[in-house]
Amino acid sequence: MNIVILSRNPALYSTQSLIYAARKRGHFVRVIDHMKCDLVMEASNLAINYEGERIRDVDAIIPRIGSSATSYGAAVIRQFELLGVYTATSTEALLRSRDKRSAMQYLAAQNIPIPKSVITNDIFSVKKVVEEFNSIPLIVKLLDSTQGLGVILAETKASAESILEAFIKLKQKVILQEYIAESKGADVRVFVVDNKVVAKMVRQAQPGEFRSNLHRGASAMVAKLSPEEEHIALAASKELGLKVAGVDLLRSKRGPLILEVNASPGLEGIEGTTGIDIAGKIIEMIQRNAG
Ligand SMILES: Nc1ncnc2c1ncn2[C@@H]1O[C@H](COP(=O)(O)OP(=O)(O)O)[C@@H](O)[C@H]1O
Ligand SMILES: [Mg+2]
Repeated sequence: MNIVILSRNPALYSTQSLIYAARKRGHFVRVIDHMKCDLVMEASNLAINYEGERIRDVDAIIPRIGSSATSYGAAVIRQFELLGVYTATSTEALLRSRDKRSAMQYLAAQNIPIPKSVITNDIFSVKKVVEEFNSIPLIVKLLDSTQGLGVILAETKASAESILEAFIKLKQKVILQEYIAESKGADVRVFVVDNKVVAKMVRQAQPGEFRSNLHRGASAMVAKLSPEEEHIALAASKELGLKVAGVDLLRSKRGPLILEVNASPGLEGIEGTTGIDIAGKIIEMIQRNAG
């Protein structure tokens, strides 16, 4: 098959791992920077040009779209979809999951457990929004936070209020969330491919840190999942429409909660920790569905 990986950086571990897995299975694979794709549109002429060359005969794409390129990346995926090309991540699923606000809305509507979350856009309702919660600390989170950079722990309601006010004044989109203290700086990353759990790891934040992102120095270990954890991870990725998903769970007193669902989850940490060939599972999904 002719597979295209949409990635801004061919040198990244995740991209390299996918290239290797595809070549090993006899496919032709090429990395294209989605930000350099031109989309041609007119009646009966829908096309994609890349650095002056028409892109043709692609059987499948694997989008690896970073958060800063979501909007243009989604347009590029849509163009491939409209051309009938199989995609490992659909435009709709990318857009639903990438925005923490819409992801939380879809999950809550399906009764999938999440930490209680409230969004406001109104600087004058901040006090009331904070009063929605019966516990402290609270988490204030930028809607476009990644790698833990944009997640703040507010120890008191007064500090939650003032942080929220500052962000709203700065025109930043934020979400206020109950803090799950009993997770003790740990979360579980569940990797889903084609509606199956293929790998899972627990990430533990460094001492003194509540964010369990590997980019924030957390350590990772292979995890075991309870049936309930497996069930909600699959339900969450299915609801958002993601065939490839990194689902993050917090272990709370009231059971597992979905924290976020990543549409372009990194492969380095999870392949390194579990020894599982996840890139291979993604290529095998494409073999079953495309071509
Ligand atoms: N409500 C919460 N309760 C407890 N810990 C949280 C909560 N929200 C975030 N965290 C911690 O902060 C980390 C980063 O938060 P997350 O929502 O995943 O943002 P990002 O997209 O920046 O990774 C999580 O992996 C988790 O360890
Ligand atoms: Mg995260």
